[in-house]
Amino acid sequence: MKIVRPFTILGAPLTVIALSAGAFGSSLQAQTAPFHKAPASTQQDTNPYAGQVAAATVGRAVYEQKCLACHGANAQGAGNIPALRVGPTQAAPDGSIFWYITQGDLGNGMPSASSLPEQQRWQVVTYLKSLPNAAPQPSKAVIAAPAATSISTAPPPPAPFTDYRYEKPGLSRWIKASDLPEPAPATSSSNGPRVVPRPANAWPQAPKGFAVGLYAEGLHNPRLIRTAPNGDMFLAETEAGNIKVFRGITKDGKPEKVETFATGLNGPFGITFYPLGPNPQWVYVGNLNSVVRFPYHNGDMVATGKPQHIADIPGGTGHTTRDVQFSLDGKIMFVSVGSRSNVDDPDTTPEEKNRANILAFNPDGTGMHIYAAGIRNPVGLAVNPITGELWCSVNERDGLGNNLVPDYITHVQPGGFYGWPWWYTGSHQDPRHLGKHPELKGKVIVPDVLLQPHNASLQMTFYSGNQFPAEYKGDIFAAEHGSWNRNPRAGYEVIRIPLHQTGHAAGGYEDFLTGFVVDDASVWGRPVGVTTAPDGSLLVTDDGSESIWRVSYTGK
Ligand code: HEC
Repeated sequence: MKIVRPFTILGAPLTVIALSAGAFGSSLQAQTAPFHKAPASTQQDTNPYAGQVAAATVGRAVYEQKCLACHGANAQGAGNIPALRVGPTQAAPDGSIFWYITQGDLGNGMPSASSLPEQQRWQVVTYLKSLPNAAPQPSKAVIAAPAATSISTAPPPPAPFTDYRYEKPGLSRWIKASDLPEPAPATSSSNGPRVVPRPANAWPQAPKGFAVGLYAEGLHNPRLIRTAPNGDMFLAETEAGNIKVFRGITKDGKPEKVETFATGLNGPFGITFYPLGPNPQWVYVGNLNSVVRFPYHNGDMVATGKPQHIADIPGGTGHTTRDVQFSLDGKIMFVSVGSRSNVDDPDTTPEEKNRANILAFNPDGTGMHIYAAGIRNPVGLAVNPITGELWCSVNERDGLGNNLVPDYITHVQPGGFYGWPWWYTGSHQDPRHLGKHPELKGKVIVPDVLLQPHNASLQMTFYSGNQFPAEYKGDIFAAEHGSWNRNPRAGYEVIRIPLHQTGHAAGGYEDFLTGFVVDDASVWGRPVGVTTAPDGSLLVTDDGSESIWRVSYTGK
């Protein structure tokens, strides 16, 4: 199969590689290749416990201790951590899974389980195969908060890098490309968070003058949130496959009305309204592998028709969040599609085709082409209301140590190349691809705002309200979900990027909403989505505590 390489767009007119949406539908199907390059002989290794209930029960306990923190209580996966209850694992021979978990793949974030006795490794495989091959249950496994907290006494990371121990609302940070250390793969850590119930004394912390309230709770995987022109707020409950609508704010800071707009969607994340302006006719939704749209009129809280299929986009494993936005002139639909892997080479990995890109389409889903490339996992998209430029919020790569590679938020240059997987942050070559693509040196764009590495930057928005002090108008707020590849961890906060009413970023950012981390092992909250509510407060979704927080300015 011929692979369209992202770097071929450099200097070439974008139309040269324009593909029709239909052209790649079937080529995205799963390969019959061995599971994670497991030797063929592993397919014949028989699982001594296959199908045994007692072994699955032991395997479950092993899973909860060794795998749950990353793969989730329901083996549902998250971010670039794959689900195990569905997908390739369920199709793979037991022997190949056993081989893979024994080896691990640390460069891609999967630790080796070789320290477990062989028997337990087979038992955990037995457990995985026993999982009902269906959507995970809404309930989260109840995990007790640890009795005693432990805060690392390790020295602070070298400035400008930081970690959760030093996050504080209002603190300014600025990371420059010249601050990057040498890659240190050997120091790369596996430090997935344990999500625990919110401790009684914990509450999100905002800068002086702001108050934080709990707007809604008891949600099921609340992710991206976006405000409609009429002020209703649309929420993607990604794992549940729902879009919900929240209307209004009571004097107690709760929604006046909540409805389910649509159900049965496949991993919905991005939501946007079209055409732009006060009277949209459609709600567009970015599913895992498609963009769909629902008919819409202002005030609809329940969809009045079935979703209409607009475009296929690459689905499959790996990064799963697809945001959707329109250019200010309404002519381009942007869709973010993250990579399948951490740093696999698209030259030799067909599954990476059309991934790690921002794709562009006509609003009717035709005319797909690559708008910007080499962006490992672009999650949040937003169009700058002053400049009209597209901006994105990006998760950079893992496995090079605590202080590499900075995540970033940047305006996106049409046809721009941002490095993945061969280069990062300008002319830094990834040591896993030494010597490849020397012609790209000097052509990799340095992003506008470098963030703490492994912050896992998700949704971003330009603050459009009038409630916060005037200097906040037009500033970027972004949710930093936090990831597993840093110890002590960083992220787990909302940040503000001051734009000083210019529409451009100088490079620095500030901690804005913090306090979601309990200690080295545990967190209780993980920010995902941010939007300006109609009264000018800021709503923040949190898929750790399954709730929505509301930050308002009181001046006190
Ligand atoms: C620190 C986080 C972490 C822990 C702990 C962890 N994994 Fe993983 N696992 C990952 C990541 C990340 C990947 C994806 C690697 C890649 O991109 O190729 C993965 C991949 C896998 C896969 C392949 C799935 C697929 O669809 O390709 C299996 C199977 C798996 N893990 C099983 C386990 C088991 C069993 C345990 C516990 C013994 C475990 N993992 C513990 C992070 C983790």
